[in-house]
Amino acid sequence: MQYVKLGSTGLDVSRICLGCMTYGVPGRGNHEWTLDEEASRPLIRQALEAGINFFDTANVYSDGTSEEIVGRALRDFARRDEIVLATKVHGRMRPGPNGAGLSRRAIMTEIDNSLRRLGTDHVDLYQIHRWDPHTPVEETMEALHDVVKAGKARYIGASSMYAWQFSKAQYTARLNGWTRFVSMQNHYNLLYREEEREMLPLCADQGVGVLPWSPLARGRLTRDWDTATGRSATDAFGSTLYPEGDRAVVEAVTRIAAERRVPRAQVALAWLLHQDTVTSPIVGASRAGHLEDAVAAVELRLSEKEIEELERPYEPHPVSGH
Ligand SMILES: NC(=O)c1ccc[n+]([C@@H]2O[C@H](COP(=O)([O-])OP(=O)(O)OC[C@H]3O[C@@H](n4cnc5c(N)ncnc54)[C@H](OP(=O)(O)O)[C@@H]3O)[C@@H](O)[C@H]2O)c1
Repeated sequence: MQYVKLGSTGLDVSRICLGCMTYGVPGRGNHEWTLDEEASRPLIRQALEAGINFFDTANVYSDGTSEEIVGRALRDFARRDEIVLATKVHGRMRPGPNGAGLSRRAIMTEIDNSLRRLGTDHVDLYQIHRWDPHTPVEETMEALHDVVKAGKARYIGASSMYAWQFSKAQYTARLNGWTRFVSMQNHYNLLYREEEREMLPLCADQGVGVLPWSPLARGRLTRDWDTATGRSATDAFGSTLYPEGDRAVVEAVTRIAAERRVPRAQVALAWLLHQDTVTSPIVGASRAGHLEDAVAAVELRLSEKEIEELERPYEPHPVSGH
């Protein structure tokens, strides 16, 4: 495994981050395709054994049970000081007032709930899962700063939003002497490259680490366009993201993978890892082989010609995933 600094911080993270949205009680929350605890634990262990030190979850994944499963597995299989644990806040955790969003009240409640479920006294990266248009950004940034100063988070990060929103949050923090975001977790893969217009140049300019979510387009980039899996059949959000025109990109991945005699997932991940702005793709793994491919992708060098062939069929998309 290779390790890099997360953006301009001194924090070492593996070039593959394990996406823990896959792990959670299937009957809880929005994702009925998740793996239960028994099926999840060997994959988390395998990731650690492969040198992955970076784990991403969220309060909202499977109604908090992702955090519980990941927290127990990491306690059993790892030393807390050797891993980089990231979670998120914003999604709805309870019906009714104050059950979601980025108010001071929500952030203070949710960090404590996440720490309890994770079984730790701090997370390394606390991320806002989305922009909250109903809360002043000053309130959010000051509350996040206080979370850091209380020792409950080492760093803060953000996730999918417009570049102007991210920039506004950063300069609000700077003006007030508050903690700024060190990372952007955004939707970026061979099928969705709209982030190359504004967000990625902004992150490069500001020294912000980039952690692409759904780097394999939720599996789309790993198999023939018309093939379904148990997850893809019930992945309601995923089914809105990739239109028919993306088929040509999947075919380019298929050609290059065949020429290289490697699985398609390795080619798609290697392309992301070749992007200067990308720190660590957040990979979803529901089988042992998925992790093996992710780890192998770190060592796969693509030629300029192969990169050009992968990028050529791309068609612009409407902004999605915010
Ligand atoms: N911030 C956000 O808003 C946001 C949004 C989405 C995700 N995330 C984060 O990003 C992480 C990853 O998301 P994701 O699961 O959608 O990512 P992904 O890596 O694009 O998709 C994972 C899926 O791809 C398939 N796959 C993975 N490796 C494969 C391989 N080597 N060969 C064949 N198929 C393979 C599997 O599909 P099957 O299971 O169908 O076989 C797997 O479930 C999440 O766990 C979460 O931490 C964040």
